[in-house]
Amino acid sequence: MKILLIKLGGSILNELHESFFTSLKDLQAEGYKLVFVHGGGPDINEMLDALQIVPEFHNGLRRTTKDVLDVVELVLSGKTNRTLVSLLQKYGFSAIGLHGNDANLLQGDYIDQSALGEVGEITNVNSDLIMNILSLDLVPVLTPLALSENGKTLNVNADMAAGAVAKALNAESCVFVTDVKGVLENGALVERMTLDEAEQLIEDKVIYGGMIPKVKTALKTLQTGIEHVRIVSGKEHFFESGKWVGTSFVEKVRV
Ligand SMILES: Nc1ncnc2c1ncn2[C@@H]1O[C@H](COP(=O)(O)OP(=O)(O)OP(=O)(O)O)[C@@H](O)[C@H]1O
Ligand SMILES: [Mg+2]
Repeated sequence: MKILLIKLGGSILNELHESFFTSLKDLQAEGYKLVFVHGGGPDINEMLDALQIVPEFHNGLRRTTKDVLDVVELVLSGKTNRTLVSLLQKYGFSAIGLHGNDANLLQGDYIDQSALGEVGEITNVNSDLIMNILSLDLVPVLTPLALSENGKTLNVNADMAAGAVAKALNAESCVFVTDVKGVLENGALVERMTLDEAEQLIEDKVIYGGMIPKVKTALKTLQTGIEHVRIVSGKEHFFESGKWVGTSFVEKVRV
């Protein structure tokens, strides 16, 4: 099965342009089955703000106390997931929302409980379940929540969750959809990026904040054997007439 894993940033969810959905239709016509994993940063921050909880980040990852986790789950599962599913339905996709912590869909483990709290990384994906859903011609839309071995819910950075799902499904292509054209350097789009270049740009703080886990996950996903890994914008066509637009991750720069 030819799978396109789409990580949709919470940052872009409310600003998705019609042309984004046209690109999805074009890719479906090329035989891709679509699987979504979404984030929810702005929605979560808005709710935290209403509750007077100050968001904290460490290298782009949200420090997640038990109180923050409750808000993360409430917002991701109750709001963000529903918004994306209904948007997809509006554009004619038969989308079904799934919680990452249901049915061992996403299993995880703590990254560093003392520094980050209830933040996890994915250790296993129930790919059979996702494949079964795809065989029904449905479009699964997953929240980036995982269940630990002892049954605790973990908050997973959505980029990392998407990379793990892409790997588990052996996706042909993985795109990280965000609110910028791709990785920018001095305002210009970097069309191709290697590991060395990414490390340098992170060190130089050209890449910062939420772009750090995204770029790191993109490169890791490439190294696990997913051939096409890209960061693209949700504000325009990211695929048109057979061509992709955005930052493409490569092992080496072609000369
Ligand atoms: N070099 C860079 N090029 C482009 N954007 C960058 C760069 N460095 C940092 N950024 C920031 O990264 C942001 C995208 O990451 P962010 O985590 O905010 O969004 P997201 O992952 O799409 O959404 P969410 O985290 O809610 O899922 C951009 O809006 C920009 O502010
Ligand atoms: Mg992010």
